[in-house]
Amino acid sequence: MGREFVGIFDEWIDSYDDSVSGKDEEYREVFAGYDDILQQVADRSQGLTVEFGVGTGNLTEKLLQKKLDVVGVEPNAAMRARTQTRFPDLSVVDGDFNHFPLPEKPIDTLVSTYAFHHLTDEEKAQAVNQYAKILSPNGQVVFADTMFENDEARQKQWEKVKKQGFNNLLEDLKREFYTTKQIMQKLFEDAGFLISFSQLNDYVWLIHGKKQA
Ligand SMILES: C[S@@+](CC[C@H](N)C(=O)[O-])C[C@H]1O[C@@H](n2cnc3c(N)ncnc32)[C@H](O)[C@@H]1O
Repeated sequence: MGREFVGIFDEWIDSYDDSVSGKDEEYREVFAGYDDILQQVADRSQGLTVEFGVGTGNLTEKLLQKKLDVVGVEPNAAMRARTQTRFPDLSVVDGDFNHFPLPEKPIDTLVSTYAFHHLTDEEKAQAVNQYAKILSPNGQVVFADTMFENDEARQKQWEKVKKQGFNNLLEDLKREFYTTKQIMQKLFEDAGFLISFSQLNDYVWLIHGKKQA
């Protein structure tokens, strides 16, 4: 469930950090301000923090710099090994947004960057409902990911990317489950979160859900 795109990262792992630093022209706008996007997520994180989809460990590094207690969750074995080698003392476990071993202590923050779009909207709702149950009383979700203001904005972005001739990016945007702000808002509110959004570049939004007492 939600793991159908995990294999893509076996091929992307060695060039992933080049992509996020802007060397891949097609993804330059997607990753514009990457370091600041990750920092904004880390700045809001506190307490026991579980990170989904750690990839090569770039957000993980910022969480560890804050001296947070971090558990990494990653379904791709190669990415897991990469991050484990980078941070030998970190606990990096096999899991995904919907299935992961629960730490013994209550979770204060759930974080993720550039990964939640791997889930269908139905899977996203299931995940967020689970988060409302397992988070500590003042717990929070802080995700940054590509989404669109509405269906029209998504269509316009597809057309722009097509004109740019960025065929790989266009295929990605159509293949995976990049949702709208309206849908994201509803699924967090239905699960009992107070939700706020801020747009960080042409693609990426910060999604901040606070669990309601
Ligand atoms: C685009 S990378 C993002 C890596 C890192 N978070 C970053 O911001 O650079 C997406 C990561 O999500 C992982 N992933 C794919 N499907 C997932 C799922 N269902 N649950 C959790 N992580 C998933 C991939 O294996 C990959 O490591």
